[in-house]
Amino acid sequence: MTAQTPQPPRPPLPLVPFPVFAEAPGGRMPLRETARLHGDGPALADLHDAILRRTGLALPSTRGAVEQGDIVLRLDPSVATAEGYTLTVDDHAEIIGADAAGLFYGIQTLLQLVQQDDEGWSLRRAVVSDAPRFGYRGVMLDVARHFFGVADVQAFIDRVSALKFNHLHLHLSDDQGWRMHIDAWPLLTTRASGSSANGDPGGFYTKDDYRAIVAYAASKHMVVVPEIDLPGHTHAIGLAYPELVEAPVMNDTLLAEAADLGQPLPVAGEPYTGWGVGHSSVRIREESTYRFVRDVLTELAELTPGPYLHIGGDEALGTTPADFASFVERVSALTVEIGKTPVAWHEVGAAPGIAEGTVGQYWGNTTPAGAHAEEARHFIERGGTLIMSASNVAYLDMKYTPDFPLGATWAAIIDVRTAYEWEPTAVLDVPERDILGVETPLWTETLRTLADLDLLLFPRAAAQAEIAWSPRESPERTWGSFRARVARFAPAWRHAGIGFHPSPEIPWAEADAAGTPASPRSVARGPHAR
Ligand code: ACM
Repeated sequence: MTAQTPQPPRPPLPLVPFPVFAEAPGGRMPLRETARLHGDGPALADLHDAILRRTGLALPSTRGAVEQGDIVLRLDPSVATAEGYTLTVDDHAEIIGADAAGLFYGIQTLLQLVQQDDEGWSLRRAVVSDAPRFGYRGVMLDVARHFFGVADVQAFIDRVSALKFNHLHLHLSDDQGWRMHIDAWPLLTTRASGSSANGDPGGFYTKDDYRAIVAYAASKHMVVVPEIDLPGHTHAIGLAYPELVEAPVMNDTLLAEAADLGQPLPVAGEPYTGWGVGHSSVRIREESTYRFVRDVLTELAELTPGPYLHIGGDEALGTTPADFASFVERVSALTVEIGKTPVAWHEVGAAPGIAEGTVGQYWGNTTPAGAHAEEARHFIERGGTLIMSASNVAYLDMKYTPDFPLGATWAAIIDVRTAYEWEPTAVLDVPERDILGVETPLWTETLRTLADLDLLLFPRAAAQAEIAWSPRESPERTWGSFRARVARFAPAWRHAGIGFHPSPEIPWAEADAAGTPASPRSVARGPHAR
C-alpha cells in the first residue's frame, strides 16, 4: 500500500465578484458548435450573443431533450434570494435564476468560466450558488465635466453590468455644462450644454437619448439614478437663466488651484472650464428657483422608472448653513412629493429636516473628517440609508500612481489593492442594515473618451464589484485571492476591446496563456496634476 500523495489545493475559480459558494470539481466541459441553448426570453438572447462575441460560436436554441454539452437556463424563485442564481457545469451546464436579474448574473458568471486552449473552447466545471451582499451596487459616471454620448454610455453599461453592478448614477449637471433637455426650460440645452472641462466640446441628451439609456440599462438589469446637482455646482444654469443663480463666490482652494493649474476663474454668464468647486449656487431665497427645480425634477422623474432622484447637495461652499438647510429640506420634500426617493451627497445630512427616507451618499474619507460622519448618520436617524462611496478608496478617477497620466489626486492615490481593501460597514461603524450599498464614482475632469474611462475603471471596478457583491466573510475575499482571480480576466478584456491598466500589482502574465500582459497604452495628455 502506498501513502496517498496529498493534492495541492485547487485554485479558486477565476470569478469576480466571487460567489457566495463556488466549488471547482476540476475538469472542463467542451464548448462546441453542436451545443444547444435551452430556455427563453431575453436571457436566452443574452447568452447566445455573449457566447458568440466571446468565442465566435453561434449556438442554436432548442426545446428538445438536454444533451451533453448543452446550456440550460431556467427560473426558479426558490433557489436564491433576489438577483441570485445557481450554476452547475458538469456534462452540461445549467443556470437557475431566482429572477430575471439572477439569470443575467448567472450568465455573467458562466462567461467567466469560458476558456480556450489547444483543445478549443470549454467551460471550467463548477458548482456555484450565489446572491448579492448589497442590493445597491452603483457606478457613477460624470457626464457633466465631459459629455459621453448614448453609444459610450451603453458601452459603459455593458462593462459594469458584467461585474454585476445594478445602478448607473448619471451626474447630469455641473458648473461646466448641463446635459439633459428639459421642455419647460429649453435654454438649458441650447445655451448651457456646449461646454466642458478644459474648454472641450459639450453635448446633451434629448429625452429620446435618455430613454434609450434607461431602456438599455434595464436590459442589463441596471437602474438609472439621475442627478441634478443643487444648490451648488450650478454655474452652467446661469448661461441659460442668469436670474436663477448667484454671482460666483471665490474660495481659497479655488483661487490656489486656478493659479496652480493655470485655469480660469468662474465668470458669470461665461462657460466655466476649470475644475474648481464651491463657487456657484442657485438663488435659494427666490421662488422662481423652486419652480425651476420642480419642473426639472418632474420631467426627469417622468422619464425615470427607477425609484431614485439624486439632488446633489455637495460643496455648496458659498451658501450659509441656514440657507443650505432650508433649500435641501424643501427640495428633498419636493422629490418625495414627485414620487421619488431623494438621494443626496452626505453634506445634506447637516439639515435637520431632510425628508424622511432620503438616502445619503457618503463621499468622505475612510477616516471621516469634521462633521462628515455625523452628517451621514443623520440620514439613518431620518429613516434613510447610506450609499458608501468613500473617496480615498472608491473614487476611480483618482490616479493609480502619482505619475499616472490620467486622473486626479485630491482624494488619494488609489492603487488596485487600496480599491480592494475597504469595508463599507467599518467606515462609519454603522450596521449593515443601514447601508443600502456601495457606489464607485468616476468624475471626468481628466477623462474624455471611453478608452480613458476603461483605463481608470479596469481592474479597479472589479475590486469595487467584489466589495458590493461578495460576502464579507468569504475565504476568497482577500487581496491575494482577488489579484490571482482578476489576472485571469485579461484575455476577455482584451478581446472585448477594454484597454485596462496593466497594473504591476496583478500577476497578469502568470495567468495569461499568451504570457504577454497588455502594453501600457499611450495616454499622454496635457498637465492634469491636481
Ligand atoms: C463630490 O465628490 N463632490 C461628491
